[in-house]
Amino acid sequence: MRTQVAIIGAGPAGLLLSRLLERRGIDAVVLESRDRAYCERRQRAGMLEQGTVDVLRACGAADRLDREGLTHHGLELRFGGRGHRIALSELTGGKAVTIYAQTEIVKDLIALAPEGRIRFGAEVVEVDPVTPRVTYRENGRLHTLDCDLIAGCDGFHGVSRAAVRGSTVFEREYPYAWLGVLADVPPSTEELIYCHHERGFALHSLRSPQVSRLYLQVDPTDQPSDWPDERIWAELRTRFATTDGWTLKDGPIREKAVTPMRSFVTEPMRHERLFLAGDAAHIVPPTGAKGLNLAVSDVTALAGAIADGGLDGYSQSRLRQVWRAEHFSYWMTTLLHTDPTADAFARRLQLSHLEYVVSSAAASTTLAENYVGFAYDGR
Ligand code: DHB
Repeated sequence: MRTQVAIIGAGPAGLLLSRLLERRGIDAVVLESRDRAYCERRQRAGMLEQGTVDVLRACGAADRLDREGLTHHGLELRFGGRGHRIALSELTGGKAVTIYAQTEIVKDLIALAPEGRIRFGAEVVEVDPVTPRVTYRENGRLHTLDCDLIAGCDGFHGVSRAAVRGSTVFEREYPYAWLGVLADVPPSTEELIYCHHERGFALHSLRSPQVSRLYLQVDPTDQPSDWPDERIWAELRTRFATTDGWTLKDGPIREKAVTPMRSFVTEPMRHERLFLAGDAAHIVPPTGAKGLNLAVSDVTALAGAIADGGLDGYSQSRLRQVWRAEHFSYWMTTLLHTDPTADAFARRLQLSHLEYVVSSAAASTTLAENYVGFAYDGR
């Protein structure tokens, strides 16, 4: 088989790249080892920057997002039993973010794809970035896909990253993880609450007027089975407690999962005719929800570069933006989590930093402009 662009991975990066190329009349095939149900079920983050919404809209993939997405103009930082609103829109000249789950974007993009363009159950067994060629197994048989270039959109654990030679890797692990919970209960808040507590970070997000999305900082060795529903709600109540009697509504928990936290960048995001995008090239810790937004800007740039022949500048221009998001995600994570290895001095510094962020217009603006999505002039 032959195509112009062989896309490995049907997550948001691969699916959106396929859509963007389709709109430009460029032929592509998406190879995905899992089945469709698995791809559509995976729960991930759900906070979209304006630029992400704009890209989805421009390629005709935002009908449901426009109907069901929730626009947010602010967020709350909570610590010491008190909440502090960060007025995102006021601080950024009117920018806002949209709450719409990544898994819904995946469903929308799959539904739009032409018949045969996405091959589920196609496991890539070899990536040859020089020829370039991808070998994959489908229904027990090996096939080869020749192409002009390969887009590696198969995440941190995928085959694409492993096929890159001679790159430099930058990495950081954190002494905590997130327990993510989806609960059938109306959100107890209109805006997201990022909460710092000495027992650990907690985040109250939402999915709809009936569904809440909550996260708790847990030990990286914890399993979901260590966290029965009652323990989760008790811990959330403790961490979110305020001095003015705010209450957290609880309800049936539909899903729980533990996500490890790491920072990771591979440079360059290219090897020969293989181009990496999204989690295959970089990972951010989830605080601030930059992962999906970065993946969307990667593939937007990649689609443009494929169309106009600007592929040589892809890695360098993306890495500048990637490192901004890396720093912001690291900053927001270390600002809000409780590091079990931190000494008393470090904890006092952290509390002072939090006080400063909510008290200084300059510091709140730093948070806000990165949170809604900071782009360097000229990209
Ligand atoms: C969500 C996840 C995040 O990591 C975040 O910072 C904000 C929202 C979410 O899943 O809704």
